[in-house]
Amino acid sequence: MIELQNQILSHLPEDYPWKDRLLCFDTLESTNDCLKVLARQGAPEGTAIVADQQTGGHGRRGRSFHSPAGMGIYLSLLLRPFCQPQELMHLTCAVAIAMADALEAATGFRPGIKWTNDLVSGKRKLGGVLTELGLTPQGTVDYAILGIGINCCQTLPDFPPELRDIGASLSMVAEKNIVRPQVAAAMLAALHTMGNHLLTGREEMLCRYRQDCVTLNREISLVRGDTIRHGYAVDVDAQGALVVRYEDGTFEHVNSGEVSVRGMYGYL
Ligand code: BTN
Repeated sequence: MIELQNQILSHLPEDYPWKDRLLCFDTLESTNDCLKVLARQGAPEGTAIVADQQTGGHGRRGRSFHSPAGMGIYLSLLLRPFCQPQELMHLTCAVAIAMADALEAATGFRPGIKWTNDLVSGKRKLGGVLTELGLTPQGTVDYAILGIGINCCQTLPDFPPELRDIGASLSMVAEKNIVRPQVAAAMLAALHTMGNHLLTGREEMLCRYRQDCVTLNREISLVRGDTIRHGYAVDVDAQGALVVRYEDGTFEHVNSGEVSVRGMYGYL
C-alpha cells in the first residue's frame, strides 16, 4: 500500500514528526491488534497503522466494525504516555474530540459524539473510537493504542442491511467527494496535537467534549446484562464518565454498560 502511504504523507503538515513511522496495508484483520503486537515488540511512540480494509475490525465489547475496502479509514496510532492508567480515564473522550476536529478540518462537517466513543451525524453513526492500554509489570502505562474507524465514501446501499438504517458516511453528510488520504492525514495530525496535551489539557478537552456530546440533556437507557434502567444524561465528569439522573432522583457516574440515547440508532 505504498500508494496510500505516499498520499497520506503528502497531506500531512510539514511539522508532523512521525512521518517515518506510518505503515499502510491492503488488508489486516485489525489495525489495533496489529499495532498491539508492534507495541509489545517496542515500537516507538507515533507508530501508526492504516489499512484499506479490515477483516476483523472491532469496537468495544467485541462488536465488529464493518471495514470494507476503499470505503473508510481504519487507523491506529501508538502513544507511550508516562503515567498511571488512572490518569488516562479521559483518553477515549480526548480521541473523540480530536477526531471531530480532524473531520471538520478535512471536510467542513463536524460530527457529534454519542458518549463515549461514537462519531455521529443526527441519528446515524459515522465512525467510532477504540482505545486500548498496555501496562508495565509495575502497573504504569506501557502503551496506549488509539484506534479509529471512519466511514468515508459509502452510499446507503454500500452498508450491509443491518447497518443501513443506522450508518452514515462522510460523503453522505458533507455532500462532497471525500479524499480518504486527506482525512487520514488530518486524523494523524489531530492525534499528534492531542497527544501533546493529553496529561495537561484534561479539563479543556472535557469541556470541548461536553459541547459536542449529543448524549447530554437527553433521555437515555442504560443496559447492563439483563437490566435496563432509564434516566437522563446530565453531565460528563472529570474522568469522562456519564452522569445519569435516574427516575427515582438518584445519580450515577457511569463508566461501563451500553447507553442508548432516545431517538438514536432506532431507540424510540
Ligand atoms: C466502535 O464503534 O465501538 C469503535 C470502532 C473502532 C474501529 C476502529 S477501526 C481501526 C481500529 N481497529 C479496530 O479493530 N478497531 C479500531
